[in-house]
Amino acid sequence: MSFKPLRKAVFPVGGLGTRFLPATKAMPKEMLPVVDRPLIQYAVDEAIEAGIEQMIFVTGRGKSAIEDHFDIAYELETTMTSRGKSLEVLDATRLKPGSIAYVRQQEPMGLGHAVWCARDIVGDEPFAVLLADDFMMGQPGCLKQMVDAYNKVGGNLICAEIVPDDQTHRYGIITPGAADGALTEVKGLVEKPAPGTAPSNLSVIGRYILQPEVMRVLEGQGKGAGGEIQLTDAMAQMIEGQPFHGVTFAGTRYDCGDKAGFIQANLAVALQREDIGSAVREFAIKTLG
Ligand code: UTP
Repeated sequence: MSFKPLRKAVFPVGGLGTRFLPATKAMPKEMLPVVDRPLIQYAVDEAIEAGIEQMIFVTGRGKSAIEDHFDIAYELETTMTSRGKSLEVLDATRLKPGSIAYVRQQEPMGLGHAVWCARDIVGDEPFAVLLADDFMMGQPGCLKQMVDAYNKVGGNLICAEIVPDDQTHRYGIITPGAADGALTEVKGLVEKPAPGTAPSNLSVIGRYILQPEVMRVLEGQGKGAGGEIQLTDAMAQMIEGQPFHGVTFAGTRYDCGDKAGFIQANLAVALQREDIGSAVREFAIKTLG
């Protein structure tokens, strides 16, 4: 079956990143580097690999470093060129002109609100949402795996991951239906259930493919868990009317919104790198004994 192609992706980057203060006082969380690339660059690369043509960033105050990152840096480039340095290292930061749009979320009212802020640019098309602080390591990338699933089942898809029972209160949790390989039917969704009340331990991770109708649901939606407008609550209302599946990612997720997860991601990437892998491995072995 063929479904309306997925061309657009929303990157909500309007959050405050309070767990990383003071590092994130003047710098967006999404610009924190995993080795030498900012988190947002990995997410954009993942979207491009999945065939996304338009990137929509939902930004907030103090996020201009993200706009600068995906722009031409004339002074830097002129100086590098005059010193005979290659500009290849900057290639990934240059996207096709016109392929990025920015919209401002004036107040960080929650992920659902951030996504809703992109409604006019998304228009009447399916779209992906990528949370850059969920760092996904795998081949092919997480969104590509989800697009492959989308091309088979259509509708709405979320990335799903099993979390320990004592962690379910930190996530959106799925009430699962029938499973078929990496695909699980989603029968219900609840954001941050109170400990002991979760319908399963299958959690929602920061990658989504959604139908545009979710924008209309978000339009009239009130605050949910934590006093924020939750995307999970809006998605829950879509389940009745449209196909809704969870896709288990074949790869590893690192929660880079959390300090331990962020350090683990850096270590995992560093160990794989040709230039620094052996030095980091040697240090780790020596340190861990
Ligand atoms: P988080 O809750 O992890 O991000 O939101 P946060 O609020 O920035 O971080 P802490 O908890 O204070 O440390 C997940 C994603 O949703 C975006 C964030 O930027 C992050 O990428 N987000 C969240 C928004 O864009 N707007 C919001 O109002 C809330």
